[in-house]
Amino acid sequence: MENAPYRQPQFIQLHHEDHAAVRAELIAGLLAPAATTSPKYLYDALGSRLFEAITELPEYYPTRTEAALFDEHKASIAAALPTQATLVDLGAGNCEKAARMFEALQPSRYVAVDISVDFLRGTLQRLQRQNPTMEMIGVGLDFSSTLTLPPEVGDGPRVLFYPGSSIGNFTPTEALAFLTQARLVCQGGGLLIGVDLVKPISILEPAYDDALGVTAAFNKNLLLYINRLIGSDFAVPDWTHRAFFNAEQSRIEMHLQAAHDVTVRWPDGQRDFVAGERIHTENSYKYQGADFDALLRQAGFQHTRVWQDAQGWFAVFWAQGD
Ligand code: AVI
Repeated sequence: MENAPYRQPQFIQLHHEDHAAVRAELIAGLLAPAATTSPKYLYDALGSRLFEAITELPEYYPTRTEAALFDEHKASIAAALPTQATLVDLGAGNCEKAARMFEALQPSRYVAVDISVDFLRGTLQRLQRQNPTMEMIGVGLDFSSTLTLPPEVGDGPRVLFYPGSSIGNFTPTEALAFLTQARLVCQGGGLLIGVDLVKPISILEPAYDDALGVTAAFNKNLLLYINRLIGSDFAVPDWTHRAFFNAEQSRIEMHLQAAHDVTVRWPDGQRDFVAGERIHTENSYKYQGADFDALLRQAGFQHTRVWQDAQGWFAVFWAQGD
């Protein structure tokens, strides 16, 4: 008897990089009085690997705290969520976190979303072989600007899965816009989201300034990526990694600080930085549980559940759509 052919994942690329717009955005940020760059430029191929290394550092508590929460509360999370839903994994990467939830959630369809489907091909093909009856779709989408899913994602309730506390890398205004869109596209399912909480500075700051210097490398690697994107001449040794908690804004800020006077040049432009001047590269907002719940309600979610670790360091929220 012949073996039945394996089901194949479907791949849909919706995001197309506009190089001129990327260049214009980066240069505008570098020329702003307080220079700034979007955190998305932390994630070229090397940056993504450095981020994976960060998640294994002893100081970086969010990944393992969240994983322990999902493990411990798998059954009650599954009981709160619809079964046989479409699981939409936002920022799927290596799809590991969602795959660990398959058994508990029993989704009928798995949709992995990342900026490029090319990141998802190998992983989804492997996952498809392990889960031959589940329909799998890879979508290349920049959901930080619009969360519009293609029709192939289908009807029926959707569980939007957004772990890792990446919501913290949005400003509160962007976070509200994202949550509002999430409510509109979840089709009677909901949003399962990981959120990092406010905690003592003695825990927060080392998580973003680790002893091995991996986060420093992750931050400085952005300079190499920008050099490739705009043809600039940033030299890594001219810059120092800075990360600190801004209590007023309730966020960790990452910056690159000029170690001495530096002039950075690119075709048709340049910027002089004096010693100590900074480029603001990332914010990572830390929420009070009640404030995040209020944000979900402001986005229109009326029913929420939350699971937290004993120390109150991290929270997983389920926000149910109408
Ligand atoms: C992806 N994001 C949730 C990480 C964070 O904690 O804000 C990015 C990161 N930046 C430095 N370390 C980790």
